[in-house]
Amino acid sequence: MWLKSVWAKPLLHLLCLLPFTGLLWAAFNGGLGANPVEKLTHETGAWTLRLLLLTLSLSPLRQWTGQAAWIRFRRITGLYTFFYLSCHFLIWFVADHSLDPGAMIEDIVERPYITLGFSAFLLMIPLAATSNQFMIRKLGRKWKSLHQLVYLIILLAVLHFIWLVKADYLEPGIYAIIAVILLAHRVGPIKRIGIKSAPVVR
Ligand code: HEM
Repeated sequence: MWLKSVWAKPLLHLLCLLPFTGLLWAAFNGGLGANPVEKLTHETGAWTLRLLLLTLSLSPLRQWTGQAAWIRFRRITGLYTFFYLSCHFLIWFVADHSLDPGAMIEDIVERPYITLGFSAFLLMIPLAATSNQFMIRKLGRKWKSLHQLVYLIILLAVLHFIWLVKADYLEPGIYAIIAVILLAHRVGPIKRIGIKSAPVVR
């Protein structure tokens, strides 16, 4: 089955890098439009959210399809989520605040949607730092508890987006609905649909 193919992971790496290379290409060829910073902020933010939702959907996919192999991709999509989030954060820190920590803290305190986004960023750092085999073994059962933080992160991320839009709520609304379905799967009756506990394959 293609999910278990040796090509699946390299292909996923390529797919995850595609938006980034597209943005780099556009940046060097004047393709970012009249407001390049706004375009880069939007694209990196949107890809962070999409990859976060994809990461969260792998476990339900495993249950719904009975294919344990979906879980092989969780580490890759999780790390690319953090990669796009770091780019998103750096664009804001460099372009909006010229690397000034004082101005950065002021903005985090004054604008609630920045407070939410920054909290999501801080919470994601320990998840990215512990997503290797060594830390999984070292932390044992604590690893799973720590990684439950991802559910809080998705809430903060969706609220961040909803809070900052001024008019068109369609895009954040779609992400919010997907997030609610995935969270409902985690805690609610949807969890019982399909195969219950397929073994984990890495
Ligand atoms: C998981 C965390 C985050 C996600 C998923 C996320 C997602 C997004 C998305 C999708 C947008 C696009 C809004 C639009 O232009 O239509 C956005 C905008 C923005 N984000 Fe984030 N973000 C996150 C964290 C952060 C952090 C850590 C910061 C900075 C501390 C930040 C600062 C901003 C800013 C300044 C904007 C532009 C707001 C505007 O256009 O007025 N975000 N974010």
